[in-house]
Amino acid sequence: MVLSSRMNIGLLGAGNVGKKLVELIEDRDELGFKVSKVLVRDVSKARSKIPPDLLTTNPKEILETSDLIVEVMGGTTLATEVMLEALNNGKRVVTANKAALAEHWETFKPFIKKGLLYFEASVMAGTPTIGALTGVLRGSRPLELHAILNGTCNYILSEMEKGEIYSKALKGAQDLGYAEADPTLDVEGFDTAHKLIVLARLVFDPNAKWESIEANTKGISSITPEVMEAAAQRNGRIRLVGSIYPCDGQWTYKVRPIFLPNTHPMANAASNRNALYFCGDAVGNVFITGAGAGGAATASGVLSDIISASQGLPGPSLITKAAVVPRNADVEILEEV
Ligand SMILES: NC(=O)c1ccc[n+]([C@@H]2O[C@H](COP(=O)([O-])OP(=O)(O)OC[C@H]3O[C@@H](n4cnc5c(N)ncnc54)[C@H](OP(=O)(O)O)[C@@H]3O)[C@@H](O)[C@H]2O)c1
Repeated sequence: MVLSSRMNIGLLGAGNVGKKLVELIEDRDELGFKVSKVLVRDVSKARSKIPPDLLTTNPKEILETSDLIVEVMGGTTLATEVMLEALNNGKRVVTANKAALAEHWETFKPFIKKGLLYFEASVMAGTPTIGALTGVLRGSRPLELHAILNGTCNYILSEMEKGEIYSKALKGAQDLGYAEADPTLDVEGFDTAHKLIVLARLVFDPNAKWESIEANTKGISSITPEVMEAAAQRNGRIRLVGSIYPCDGQWTYKVRPIFLPNTHPMANAASNRNALYFCGDAVGNVFITGAGAGGAATASGVLSDIISASQGLPGPSLITKAAVVPRNADVEILEEV
């Protein structure tokens, strides 16, 4: 089923991701998509490739003129409100917003159940992650998952390996546009936690609570050059890792800096890459790596969801019960810093 021969897309946000998405859509004319209206805060800001008459500050105009809504504005309030209004009107919605999903999952759940919400790019941008975990990897019982999910932390830690102090490495990340002006979500681990809880609910426990991971989240702001140096002397490095694993008969969720020996597959994820290590009972170890951020990589993930939605394919499906917690699994022991 194809929703429309020329599908009108209502775009919420024209920042790093939104602007790149407009370019990809224009470049891929054969797909038959048209951006009909774009929600921004400031219509006077110049945005190449987006004609000024498409810009609006009124969410109603977006909802009225589009077949499909794409949310790449971020935040958890207005973005959630507009997505819910569209979903309640039966529209499909594509989003890259892990924060809104993490914090308002229960509100979105009925629409995820109906297959109306698509969110591949919310974790690891355009690198196949949610599709793989809710598709082919469902053939195995999950045993554990560990992942490097935040590019800003990866960049800062890579710079610190070269001898930079934390505050200067953070400033460098901000100057390059990797980190937000307020980098708390990235460096204190909450961006990783937002992504991890989305994966937890799709793979390990449909009722995993945000509070259970929030309380177990520690970022990288206390890492010193001495800690980095000590790791290097032990032939390893420090990375911010989000993990889901069995502990005392339940699934445990944690985000914290980890010492990874250089031989570990995740240790070799370059500064601008993400990496995810999944272990399933039948499939064994699976390692996924690729770009986890950036306008183009994220827009690519968003576009794949738009294509699925235009073909009438459903978004990622939920699990109905928590995965069995293995009693005697040979769990990977990661050394916390
Ligand atoms: N950047 C990445 O690498 C990346 C990767 C994965 C996922 N994501 C997710 O993708 C989303 C967008 O990220 P981004 O980097 O593109 O953000 P961004 O550069 O800050 O762009 C946000 C856009 O949304 C608009 N906007 C924000 N709040 C608004 C409001 N209240 N009303 C109207 N318009 C509003 C802004 O308008 P103005 O331009 O007028 O200010 C801007 O165009 C976020 O959810 C982010 O977590 C981003």
